[in-house]
Amino acid sequence: MNKLQFRWVNTGQSPACILVSTKTDVLDAGDLSAADKKKVSTYLKSAAFTGAFGATAWVPGTSIPVLLAGIGKPNEFHAARWLRTWSAVARAALQQMMAGISFTWPEKSRFPLDTAALMKLAVEGLHEGSYDFNAFHPKKSTRTLTIELRGEVLAGKSIRRTVADGQLIGRTLNEIRDLANLPPNLLGPQELAAKVKQLAKQDGLDCRIWNEAALKKEKAGALLAVAQGSGRPGCLIRLAYTPGRKKLPPPLVVVGKAVTFDSGGICLKPGKGMEWMAYDKCGGMTALAAILLAARLKVPNPVVAYIPAVENMPDGRAARPGDIVTARNGTHIELLNTDAEGRLILADALSFAADEKPRAIVDIATLTGAVIIALGHEATAVMGNNDKLLLELMLSGESTGERLWQLPLWSEYDAALKGRFADVKNIGDGTAGTISGAAFLKQFVPEDIPWAHLDVAGTAWLEAAQNGRAPGATLSCARLLCDWLATTPGME
Ligand code: BES
Ligand code: ZN
Ligand code: ZN
Repeated sequence: MNKLQFRWVNTGQSPACILVSTKTDVLDAGDLSAADKKKVSTYLKSAAFTGAFGATAWVPGTSIPVLLAGIGKPNEFHAARWLRTWSAVARAALQQMMAGISFTWPEKSRFPLDTAALMKLAVEGLHEGSYDFNAFHPKKSTRTLTIELRGEVLAGKSIRRTVADGQLIGRTLNEIRDLANLPPNLLGPQELAAKVKQLAKQDGLDCRIWNEAALKKEKAGALLAVAQGSGRPGCLIRLAYTPGRKKLPPPLVVVGKAVTFDSGGICLKPGKGMEWMAYDKCGGMTALAAILLAARLKVPNPVVAYIPAVENMPDGRAARPGDIVTARNGTHIELLNTDAEGRLILADALSFAADEKPRAIVDIATLTGAVIIALGHEATAVMGNNDKLLLELMLSGESTGERLWQLPLWSEYDAALKGRFADVKNIGDGTAGTISGAAFLKQFVPEDIPWAHLDVAGTAWLEAAQNGRAPGATLSCARLLCDWLATTPGME
């Protein structure tokens, strides 16, 4: 894995200079020589550089290497774009085999976010841009990129602190990306549980795992119905982080879908593109990343994570369309499509989560293809039963650059899930697919517990590199959840 190193420098020559820029204006040319400044302005006029966020260009002919990093149109500035700008910077610098780059804060510019928040995003973006999944390309050497932060503005204490937080977040996410990108032959539910156990031990988290026998005792019939189609047994993982302070409020619970491979089961998916269903574990990986971040940043709130882990396969013992199973909370479910498996494993995990008497539950899952039709790959859909919680999450999404978009979850949508021979069926009528998924989950959370559901099917992985981000798991919403876990005020 490539490494990033930050240094505060005030003198000496820059190894290579990063200039954030729109199509027409460099925000601040810093301490470049007059001749280099001229080269930059001539280059900008030549129209080769679009200034779009994520666009980068090395200015030809300068005395030291100068990298222009586009931030897009100023009136469209957003944390999400600023983040991409910096991923693209890391990628461009590493591609150019740079050992170091330097950055001076463009003091004359006005941004809608404060400098510390922007630097945190920049550091997180740089880490994302420096990541590649190289476990099976051992010949690709790992490199260290030094980022020199120059000038008075960046030397301040609060900036240093947020840069350190950004580094911790960036490193943790890259570590979990390596796990999330493992292929499905190498990472089944049990391998995942073993790895989580090991991480929990390192980080002082409490870890409990229910195997199939324990889940049978718990009557977790929905989760087990999915697991039974695979030769690899499923399990449920619980992690808990308890901050070291007295008078703790009830925990915040994060629940993440971890289907280590989703073939569709008996309702088999088409072969084309099926390989991407190794990423159907990304909700679980993100829940894992979020609780690890909470622990490593020592957030003030207690946090519990539930990760139901299964492989959805079409074995001779697999569940069939028409089967009726009983979930842990007693609800009878008619299985009409074995490919709608995520909501089944979440149903039982949510009932465990409710037993924690939590302050709030947030689940995260690659639940529906329909969310890609609705929102594409730019936003994660959010739905829930509590407006305050939804607002908190959306605000965390705005500040971390992981944007949420709300869909309605009115009870009118429940009718489509009414079962013919049981309480509910696991699919709706084919309309509003993403909402149907959430409406199904809603039935497994008591009404008095604030709950939200994030459908990350469109944002959890990239099939090709984009704006400096490598193909593979993005861990979309891990930083959002971490921000929410850290900032939601504790209850007395
Ligand atoms: N894991 C899939 C959802 C998915 C599809 C994620 C494409 C990312 C890309 C989920 O288990 C699934 O198969 N959902 C079905 C639900 C349907 C049968 C009601 C879907 O979206 O087609
Ligand atoms: Zn499925
Ligand atoms: Zn799935």
